[in-house]
Order: sequence, then structure tokens, then C-alpha cells
Amino acid sequence: ASDKKIILVPAMNVRMWTHQATKENISKLLSYGYLCVGPEIGEMACGEYGEGKMSEPIKIIEFLNNFFSEQKIISKSKLKAIVTSGPTKEYIDPTRYISNDSSGKQGYEIAKSLIRYGIETTLISGPTNLSYPKNLKLIKVQTAEEMYEETKKNLPVDIAVCAAAVCDFKISNYQKNKIKKEDIANLELEKNKDILNFLSTHNSLRPRLVIGFAAETNNIIKNAEEKISRKHCDWLIANDVSKPEIGFNSDFNEVTIIYKDK
Ligand code: CTP
Repeated sequence: ASDKKIILVPAMNVRMWTHQATKENISKLLSYGYLCVGPEIGEMACGEYGEGKMSEPIKIIEFLNNFFSEQKIISKSKLKAIVTSGPTKEYIDPTRYISNDSSGKQGYEIAKSLIRYGIETTLISGPTNLSYPKNLKLIKVQTAEEMYEETKKNLPVDIAVCAAAVCDFKISNYQKNKIKKEDIANLELEKNKDILNFLSTHNSLRPRLVIGFAAETNNIIKNAEEKISRKHCDWLIANDVSKPEIGFNSDFNEVTIIYKDK
């Protein structure tokens, strides 16, 4: 219900539905401004055939989606969102870096959806080959440190979606000049700041909804449940990246969404 509108989803036996009393009651409710999805004509649970069958769930969802987008309930709320996306690059020297295979497609699609709902969205993206539409507020970064700083700068927001495949480590012995073959040395790594954790545990500027992702190759649910507790986010979206058809770079995805209350 919204703006005091009630949506009815009638489902009843055909003779009950076509009875004068029901007709009168339904038209009274419609005259009060109630809305009605269905019923449809078809075979019923009681074995009879006729008008009175509940609409298919997909039809009810379509109706609700149209209803809420027409009401512009979300855009009227003037919500703001940040989406982190893509990989990060952690430089070893000016010509070499550590990174990963993230395409950035997921974060980009999420940012586009948020914009469609009328949410003012900033996409903070690591290097990708995607082309972005002009109406997207895009901040391009290279390193995890830059992604963290830009996220901080763009607070407060209502929603944060951390879809980026942030490199967990950066190089602490970065060389200003290109390392020569003969000077090959061990890499020293130090942990990057965890942006998702930073957002989830922020005292004063915690977004109302913080969503993290978990790229896993095994024990998907168990690892994701452990991760949601460790990262203190509200939802955690687990991807199985071991399957090429739904993993990095694929246009298709299959996820499990875990909520804070498990
Ligand atoms: N994340 C982040 N900042 C980091 C590392 C990760 O914001 N420095 C976010 C990712 O954007 C994602 C979530 O944390 O939403 C989980 O990332 P993932 O790589 O699956 O987990 P890690 O924390 O790196 O843990 P592990 O590699 O041990 O699975």
C-alpha cells in the first residue's frame, strides 16, 4: 500500500467471484481507490473453470513494479548511493602492477539500475574497458587507496554497494623507477584498507543500507555467512566465480543473497 492505496489480489471460485454480492463489494472498494490485480480466467484449485483464478505472481510483480515506479516513491525520497566497481591496480613500479580479472560490468549495471529508480548514484570504478553513459557520475580510480579516499569524499549516502574486486594487498616497497631485470627483488605486501568494512562500521556516516559482494570459488554459503559477520554489512551477495559462465567477465550471473539475520 502507498498513499493509502490498497492493492487487492482476488482469488476465489468462479461462482463466488461472479456473485452479485462480490461484484457490489469489489466495485465499492474500487470506488474508494483500491486497486485490483486480476482475477484471471482459468482452472481453479477447486477443480472448476472460470473467472476467479489468482493472477500469476509474475503479473502481480509487474503490476507492483509499475505502480511503484509511477508513484515515483523512490525518486521522491531523494536517495543517494555509491557503487564501487571493477578491479584495482596495485603498482610495483611505474610499469607493473598486481590486479585481477574483474570487468566492472556488475557494478556498472547496478549503478544504472539505481539511476533508473531516480537514486543519485556515484560510480567509483577501477580501470575497465567499459564505456559509460554521460549521465552517470563516474569517478575513475586506479588503486584501492584512491577508491577508499573517493568513497570517503562522497559520503554521506543512503546506500553503498561494494561490487569492486579490491586488491587485498598493496606493494609497500614500490619502486619509483622501473625495476631492472638484474635488480629483481622480493615484493613486500601490506593490507589495503577494507572499504566495505569502513562503511559498515562508520560511527556517524554509516549508509542505511550497505551491500557487499563475496567472490567465492568453494563453500559459497558458508564463506558468505562468515563474511557478512566479519564485514558488518546488511546484505552480502555471493558469486561463484569458479564457473566461467557466471564468473568474472561473463554477461550472466547467478547469486545468493544473504541477509544480516542469515
Ligand atoms: N572489499 C572492500 N575493500 C577491500 C576488500 C574487499 O571494500 N579492501 C569488499 C568487496 O568490494 C566486496 C567484499 O569486500 O564487497 C568482499 O570481497 P572479497 O574479495 O570477496 O573478500 P575479502 O574481504 O577480500 O576476503 P577473502 O579474499 O579472504 O575472501
